[in-house]
Amino acid sequence: MSLDVALIRQQFPILSRQVNGQPLVYLDNAATTQKPQAVIDALVDYYSQCNANVHRGAHYLSDEATKRYEKARVTVANYINAQRSEEVIWTSGTTEAINLVANGAAQRLTAGDEVLITEMEHHANLITWQQACKRSGASLKIVPIHNNGELNLEAFHELLSERTVIVAMPHVSNALGTINPVKQLTEAAKAKGALVMIDGAQGVAHGAIDVRDIGCDFYAFSGHKLFGPTGIGVLWGRYDVLADWPVWLVGGEMIASVTYEDASWGELPNRLEAGTPNIAGVIGLAAAVEWLQAYDRADIWAHEQALLTRATELAEQTPGLKIIGTAANKIGVLSFVIDGMHPADIGFILDKQGVAIRTGDHCAQPLMKRLNVPGTARASFTIYNSMDDVEALFKAIDKARKMLA
Ligand code: ALA
Repeated sequence: MSLDVALIRQQFPILSRQVNGQPLVYLDNAATTQKPQAVIDALVDYYSQCNANVHRGAHYLSDEATKRYEKARVTVANYINAQRSEEVIWTSGTTEAINLVANGAAQRLTAGDEVLITEMEHHANLITWQQACKRSGASLKIVPIHNNGELNLEAFHELLSERTVIVAMPHVSNALGTINPVKQLTEAAKAKGALVMIDGAQGVAHGAIDVRDIGCDFYAFSGHKLFGPTGIGVLWGRYDVLADWPVWLVGGEMIASVTYEDASWGELPNRLEAGTPNIAGVIGLAAAVEWLQAYDRADIWAHEQALLTRATELAEQTPGLKIIGTAANKIGVLSFVIDGMHPADIGFILDKQGVAIRTGDHCAQPLMKRLNVPGTARASFTIYNSMDDVEALFKAIDKARKMLA
């Protein structure tokens, strides 16, 4: 069965607005997705009916908020096929999740240890490990990519060794759309005894994620790229690994006991969740996951691939346009440059026509340098985009080319 995109679009109020006097064509989904009414309603309902702090108050609302909050943890745990809901740690987003892992790792890494990342990292999975290595004396090893944006698997296997303590890699490149064979790479890393952390910011919204099938130790993602609110994300970690992972943030809720001299930490998940959490965000994220689960993952995948295929065809017919990132396995991301046009100018002219894309380095400066581009223009597709959106994109690109010729 195919998706009824028109019906899906009706659920996103923002998609019917105009920008710059033009109907909105929203193609910046890799930066953040729009929110369906179900998520907006869940947030309004929480704040208007249930707002209270969780795990604390001895009163009705606190009890109800705690139940909704912990039910959300189960929803998200099931969505990624976690073994236990306590393996789901709420964070503010992917960045905080990776910081939690890297800061914990920095306390254990020593000189001689190696951390393996890739040339296609978002800064969030690069600087975190770079700084953890600087602090601990461990070495950061970078797996190169091929010119088409695929990971150099041969180099990955060469760089992986008994010294590798952690492999941290993106499931999907935000800048290029490349899908990495994370299951296969995880298996190789585990065979060397390394821990594996996957930056799932771009992976989570496009295919079914099964953390147990991948076999990794950590998987990080953000709610806002999954039709949920901003400011909420997830660090999933294997129970036995998380249970004694060094704590990073300390404060309320995460303790077992405290004296003026010392403190001891509580059980999972609380030990890694200091302070009042983003309760509304958690409830909104669970609403997003429930909303998404109404659609067949294979249908979503087929739809996004059809959009990518058509966009790629039109890109190939556009004089002077070069696609940056042509991996065989890609999500619906089309990153490109056009001869003689700065990506920022492309973005500006498209915006005037109502077409929202992202331009720039995509928080991946070393990758842009590696690919020898100042940045790219990036259109990214999701469940609610239509073929008309793709046509509108290329109509706008044609106009930009004529204006800047
Ligand atoms: N990391 C997000 C992107 O790729 C913001 O646009």
